[in-house]
Amino acid sequence: MAFYRLEQLIKVTDGYRKVFDLPGKSILLMREDGITYLLNNACPHLGVPLSKGRVKEGVIRCSGHGMRFDLTTGSPIQNSSPCEKLEVLNAEYDNDYIGVSF
Ligand code: FES
Repeated sequence: MAFYRLEQLIKVTDGYRKVFDLPGKSILLMREDGITYLLNNACPHLGVPLSKGRVKEGVIRCSGHGMRFDLTTGSPIQNSSPCEKLEVLNAEYDNDYIGVSF
C-alpha cells in the first residue's frame, strides 16, 4: 500500500473537482456542499469517468447511463441496479495536504 499526496487542503473548496491518474487507478477528488469526497473515477457500470457526473444531495449521477450512487457509501441508488458499488476511498492527511492510500 502506498500513500499519494494529492492536494493542499486550502485549495479543496466547494466546487473543487480534479482527477489524479495514479498508478493503477484514476482518483476523483471533489468537494460539494462542504463535504470532501474521494472516489474511483470509473463508474462501476461500464467505466465511464465520474468526473463529469452531476452531484446533488450526496448522490452522483453518471454521465454515461444515468445510474446514481451514494457518495458516502458508494451504493447504487436504484434497487434493481445491475451495478457493483462505487469505490469510495478514505481521505488521509499529511500536514496541510489531503491524500489517499491504496
Ligand atoms: S457507465 Fe456509468 S451508468 Fe453506465
